[in-house]
Amino acid sequence: MTRIFSGIKPSGHLTLGNYLGAVRQWVATEQRPDEALFCVVDLHALTVEHDPARVRRLSRQAATLLLAAGLDPRVCTLFVQSHVDEHTRLAYVLECTAADGELRRMIQYKEKAAKAQAAGEGVRLSLLTYPVLMAADILAYGTEEVPVGEDQRQHVELTRDLAVRFNQRYGYTFTVPRATTPAVAARVMDLQQPTSKMGKSEAVGSGIVYLLDEPEVITKKVMRAVTDNEGGVVYEREDRPGAANLLDILAACTGGDPAVLAGGYSGYGQLKRDVAEAVVETLRPVRQRHAELAADPAAVDAVLRAGAERARAIARPVVDRAYEAIGLLVP
Ligand code: TYM
Repeated sequence: MTRIFSGIKPSGHLTLGNYLGAVRQWVATEQRPDEALFCVVDLHALTVEHDPARVRRLSRQAATLLLAAGLDPRVCTLFVQSHVDEHTRLAYVLECTAADGELRRMIQYKEKAAKAQAAGEGVRLSLLTYPVLMAADILAYGTEEVPVGEDQRQHVELTRDLAVRFNQRYGYTFTVPRATTPAVAARVMDLQQPTSKMGKSEAVGSGIVYLLDEPEVITKKVMRAVTDNEGGVVYEREDRPGAANLLDILAACTGGDPAVLAGGYSGYGQLKRDVAEAVVETLRPVRQRHAELAADPAAVDAVLRAGAERARAIARPVVDRAYEAIGLLVP
């Protein structure tokens, strides 16, 4: 049996990128006889300027959307990170394993720190140490597989390095996990800026499809997507990022191959109409189910409470072992 763990940060409304890159893979794991845990990683939403009420609201909304997307709490464990103390308990021990230099090299840190500085905001220390907390999220559960989008690969690599280093120094304690990414749409790009990732924390939303967007809004965003000036639809990620992104999205929604799909189009108009329809139909059931579930927040909270209890029971002995291995007196 494989142990699977992944998480999503409530720093904005969930996007099509989150869905195609990660959440859909999570739902697919339920067909396997493996044990999966999925987490709304709320502590990670505090690493940049944030509004407390919004983070709270987005945390419950993310959990509701994960259920709406098809996560079944009878099959997997769904919970909120801050409900399980083991994450922060392990993070400190891993901070004693990680080096300052390797954290400063993380691409997301460099990008977000530069952005915070440009906006005249201070860079929170937690922005630097964030990948260590992410490593703790993963290692606390003896995780083998981490289904994520492409942008999280570097963090999972760091997690592997920390696990191996800890095991070498203090004796075998942690399972060394691996990242898995989907074959297409592992990196969905912004429709207005197809060289940047479609990210939920971005302020401008015109190039971002949110899971709860109305069908008309989705259609409008897709029809206005930036494509390349040259005529003819070809699949070339480097040279024609706008077209490639639309083809990736279409392939992910309809199950085709993006390069093959390109051959069926002579212009962007028809491609955009087909992408819009495919996205609307892919997200329609998620939106409908979300509306039903959101009407009963107490039921969602009950799922999260039960999930936290199960998660705690798995993580506690792993973190105790790490404490003992590193030289702490376990009570
Ligand atoms: P987050 O919240 O930014 O994204 C959640 C998941 O969605 C994927 N994703 C995308 N995939 C394809 N295209 C995109 N445009 C796109 N945008 C986001 C992400 O790769 C991710 O899988 N640090 C993590 C959260 C985290 C975590 C963990 C993940 C914390 N602890 C432990 C796995 C295991 C993050 O910020 O993801």
